[in-house]
Amino acid sequence: MGTIPNRMKVLLIGKDGRTDALATACLATMGGPELFALTQFRSPGLLAKCSRVYIGSLADRRAMARVVREIEPDLVIVGPEEPLAAGIADELELMGIPCFGPHSSLARIETSKGWTRRLFDKHGITGNPRYRIFDSDQGVREYLQELGDWVVKPDGLTGGKGVKVLGQDLDGLDDSVDYINSILWRDGRLVIEERLEGEEFSLQSITDGESLAHTPVVQDHKRVYEGDKGPNTGGVGSYSCPDFSLPFLSENDVSEARRINEAVVNALSAETKRPYRGVLYGNFIATRDGVRLIEYNARFGDPEVLNLVPILQTDFVEVALAAATGELGGVKVIFDNKATVCKYVVPEGYPTDPRVGDEIKLQTGKPLPGLSCFWAAVDERDGRAYMTGARAVAFVGVGATMSEAESIAEAGAGFVDGPVMHRSDIGTPAAIDARIRHMAQVRATSQNVTALT
Ligand SMILES: Nc1ncnc2c1ncn2[C@@H]1O[C@H](COP(=O)(O)OP(=O)(O)O)[C@@H](O)[C@H]1O
Ligand SMILES: [Mg+2]
Repeated sequence: MGTIPNRMKVLLIGKDGRTDALATACLATMGGPELFALTQFRSPGLLAKCSRVYIGSLADRRAMARVVREIEPDLVIVGPEEPLAAGIADELELMGIPCFGPHSSLARIETSKGWTRRLFDKHGITGNPRYRIFDSDQGVREYLQELGDWVVKPDGLTGGKGVKVLGQDLDGLDDSVDYINSILWRDGRLVIEERLEGEEFSLQSITDGESLAHTPVVQDHKRVYEGDKGPNTGGVGSYSCPDFSLPFLSENDVSEARRINEAVVNALSAETKRPYRGVLYGNFIATRDGVRLIEYNARFGDPEVLNLVPILQTDFVEVALAAATGELGGVKVIFDNKATVCKYVVPEGYPTDPRVGDEIKLQTGKPLPGLSCFWAAVDERDGRAYMTGARAVAFVGVGATMSEAESIAEAGAGFVDGPVMHRSDIGTPAAIDARIRHMAQVRATSQNVTALT
């Protein structure tokens, strides 16, 4: 008679739709691990999936370590960047507990944009735009004039609210210089770079610091209103295609992004003498001149991982544990060749002036085949769900075609009752065509003109 294996204990750290999606992926695992979560509010998704939910800080590494000591998990999976920046992986390394998420010295790839640009230069990795790092306002005006078109980036984490683009968020030279001075005053450092023109996409690669498992490429939608209007958000929806590329990308674009992620894992290990364990998320832009790097994240994207979870065939706990322990080379990470569309339902007024505290209800009925639902910034009290101001609940449709996946996600978003909104254009043929046309236009602009600087 065989022995009954101990049930594996997995602790998830995070507070968002991404963390609920990762919990779903863990539970789809053979044998079903026992799940715990450290989070910031009573998410209905985590409450339903975990045997215990701890509410606490995700930024205080000692407080997080106390929760870990109490649970004694076999594996910790980190959702967002905040715990990584606070050094949760460093703490777990000292405790000898496998962590899916990199050490803080490696999470610098996300926590310092200037450091990352310099890493590319130092290791000869192509993909940087023209850029300069400034510690004072000396030469700022001249550099802006030299670039002609620019983006201003605080060096550190700003929760998606710090980067400003000329023409979108910045109104000319004086406005830009004012903004630059305010950041220098606050942080003492920033990056100014050339504004790139093209279509953005994300390549999330799971890695143990040596092997990389590339996941399907995803495109996110940052603007809150249909037709890409309105203010920037953390992302209100995303899609991926059955061939794991995107309709406006060439094969070359995807292989270039893969090559860059691989080069970065090697550069990071040379630089820090540590293996990068977790997810390396490259946010790229396809331009007239090829693929360029917008920025790196040191964790899965929210919503981008929501597209991946429903089509992941391989056991996620096996993948995460292998990445966390340096064994990823022995695991094949497989996805279904299906289309996915994710739509986030958000409170009215999001992101600038969101309604807070309203109840939302999901109409229950027959489950829709191909539909997944993930809870985000929602607090459950007495069996009711209340929105907390950020993205509330995500629906992901999976289908053989984009239009099938889109209509499933759209139907899901329609199941929500409450003062909410969502973008019904995400994943529609019209929205995708607009991107294909934009990219064609970008690629067609004259290639034989060189601006002399
Ligand atoms: N060099 C650039 N050229 C054009 N747009 C850019 C550039 N850098 C950033 N952006 C735009 O600004 C957004 C936010 O910038 P990013 O570097 O991703 O910072 P964060 O996500 O930390 O706010 C990007 O998704 C992109 O749309
Ligand atoms: Mg970004």
